[in-house]
Amino acid sequence: DKKDSLKGKKVLITAGPTYEKIDPVRFIGNHSSGKMGFAIAEECANHGAEVQLVSGPVSLKTNNPNIKVTQVTSALEMLKATDSMSSSSDILIFSAAVSDYRPSSPVSTKIKKESSTPPTIDLTENPDIALTIGKKKRKDQYSLGFALETNDEQANAEKKLEKKNFNAIVLNSLNDEGAGFGHDTNKISIIGKNKKHLDLPLKDKRSLAKDIVKYIIDDL
Ligand code: PMT
Repeated sequence: DKKDSLKGKKVLITAGPTYEKIDPVRFIGNHSSGKMGFAIAEECANHGAEVQLVSGPVSLKTNNPNIKVTQVTSALEMLKATDSMSSSSDILIFSAAVSDYRPSSPVSTKIKKESSTPPTIDLTENPDIALTIGKKKRKDQYSLGFALETNDEQANAEKKLEKKNFNAIVLNSLNDEGAGFGHDTNKISIIGKNKKHLDLPLKDKRSLAKDIVKYIIDDL
């Protein structure tokens, strides 16, 4: 039944944004609140899973004894934490909004507004956490990614599904009202490797977490 359908399973989830340091007071970040990832973590724990949640800076907390939260700040830290737990995990869920770039050389003192020309920030590509782990995923491991799109949504999501070696991908589009970052609601489609496609209406992220976890359980 519901309480034990993930009993004995280890689930690793990334959530929230990453902050990439520019100087001691500034960073490059994004609007992720962590709500989607935390809701999935709660739902997996409710099914009896042992959950490791690697989260960027968010204001959310959980009291669930089956969820262990590792707090990180940057993409490099998120990779390190996630990678160290990936091989012992049965199910991997990548819901974090990871910054694709970071400032190449963060400055150790506050950048002052003193020169006549605005400063330029040189960027370096961050590692792709889902791709790094996807490359070494074993047959006995299941992974689900997310795709946050603004255009050519379906095609881009299918490309990410393939490239990052996910078993399934959750597509959300910033063109849909009430979907994506911050809101309590989201509107998603779940696209499977088998082309099994599930379109869900706009609803609460906790309710969608139930649909996502049910999809995974049916797919295992
Ligand atoms: O946190 P909320 O406010 O509730 O918002 C939820 C959400 C919008 C953040 C979430 O639903 C979502 O879409 N998360 C993924 C956002 C994203 O960055 O998607 P992407 O299309 O850029 O990345 C594709 C996949 O690769 C994702 O699974 C992402 O976690 C992963 N990735 C991307 C880049 C990177 N360097 N490392 C990664 O692991």
